[in-house]
Amino acid sequence: ESFGAAESCVIIGGGLAGLSAALALAPSPVILLSKAAPGLESSSWLAQGGIAAAIGADDDFSLHLADTLTAGDGLCDETAARAILAEGSSAIEDLIRLGVPFDRDGEGRILLGLEAAHSRRRIVHASGDSSGREIMRALARRVGETPSITFVEGTASRLIVEDNRVSGVLVSTRSGPAVIAASRVVIATGGIGGLYKYGTNPAGSFGQGLALAARAGAVMGDLEFVQFHPTALDTASFPLKLISETVRGEGAILVDEAGERFMACQPGAELAPRDVVSRAVWRHMAAGHRVFLDARNVPGLDFARRFPAITGFCHAAGIDPATQLIPIRPAAHYHMGGISVDLRGRSSVEGLWACGEAACTGLHGANRLASNSLLEAAVCGRLVATDIAATPVSRAKGPRNLETAFAPLADQLLDQAPVREILSHAAGVQRDGEGLREAIRALYPLASEPSSSNGAAVAGLMIAVSALRRRESRGAHSRTDFPDKAPSPQRTMLRLDDALADA
Ligand code: SIN
Repeated sequence: ESFGAAESCVIIGGGLAGLSAALALAPSPVILLSKAAPGLESSSWLAQGGIAAAIGADDDFSLHLADTLTAGDGLCDETAARAILAEGSSAIEDLIRLGVPFDRDGEGRILLGLEAAHSRRRIVHASGDSSGREIMRALARRVGETPSITFVEGTASRLIVEDNRVSGVLVSTRSGPAVIAASRVVIATGGIGGLYKYGTNPAGSFGQGLALAARAGAVMGDLEFVQFHPTALDTASFPLKLISETVRGEGAILVDEAGERFMACQPGAELAPRDVVSRAVWRHMAAGHRVFLDARNVPGLDFARRFPAITGFCHAAGIDPATQLIPIRPAAHYHMGGISVDLRGRSSVEGLWACGEAACTGLHGANRLASNSLLEAAVCGRLVATDIAATPVSRAKGPRNLETAFAPLADQLLDQAPVREILSHAAGVQRDGEGLREAIRALYPLASEPSSSNGAAVAGLMIAVSALRRRESRGAHSRTDFPDKAPSPQRTMLRLDDALADA
């Protein structure tokens, strides 16, 4: 089957970035391709804490920028950070206009939460700790009411690229494979948490967007930077439930089985940047301890009222946070790296844009500041839409060679477990050269053979190669064999061909 037209615009991904781009492009027609109904099965839906914006009376954009750059540990692209953060308050206004019911006080003022490494309360939230769900419900409703957006349920298997220019997308739908002819494609497929044994993203987030772009020849940026959230609920479920950083923002502390508060002496204590807290928890666990969040004695905190969703899934796991310790562990949570894009969201392949977690704008540097991700998704979805609307439609004729386009369709059928095992072992909270080299040797055969090539293995291999290339420790990338920071920060740029050549 073949549909779309040579000039079509296809947005792949139904999270906040994809829906923001589709809505901002209206009334121009777009095809929204997603494996579930818009909003569902996205990391955006699972977001708890909220969306960061410097809208408080004591706050200012320059403070938000300074916190972002500090957390990013020298690797942020300051120009990108300025441009994206400056859009914070207008992004919140836009979401309100789209119907998001942010939490307010009795006088109608937006309530602001606090998260680690923020110098001010600036986390705008909804339904206490179900911010993502409320944002996505409102946007999905708008998408349903927008006739210019055609929803197609399915997954993208391959981008069709001719002369470094996108001409279509091979998709897999319930009724079989199809080609959508399109000269403009936006990848908004989210992150890679599903590549790890312990992760907080939906299991279906295993780097498909990275693999699509990488196979199309696009340049990837900073792939080695994977953020581990320090406090996922430590149960046997997959993925793990998150215990939002706003719980620590309200005063909860980290303790071990002996009740010792092992973060107390660190600058910032439990509210130090996320990479610092994750490493401290990981090391404490590696030394044989169990780690817990203690929210029992926080003055004035009505836990169940402030955190209804967390209370619900703690209860489901047999834990009452008001009276019991909450067992936690670090888990893969966010990918700072991704498809390298400029401020308009353009990748190195003509006709290919990316936004949200799948993209690497440089905003997050080596360690993302909490709740800057939803902000980036909302802002960059709009920026991509603006650029697409301003770009003359290419005269591409659509895919010429459908046989090549239909070639490998194996991705959806492959088991991701072997990649998860390899990457969790070698590219977790702490890495070293020997482990990374071993991972690359194991991933290469899975990633390199076109007839069996596997999106998760492509993403995993490129992460491992980037991590091996970075011979320093910075932000979320911590190497036991290179514990120091290099004198001058360098971004890592990598194409699939280079990664395969290194392997
Ligand atoms: C959280 O609520 O802790 C997650 C926020 C984020 O990842 O930005």
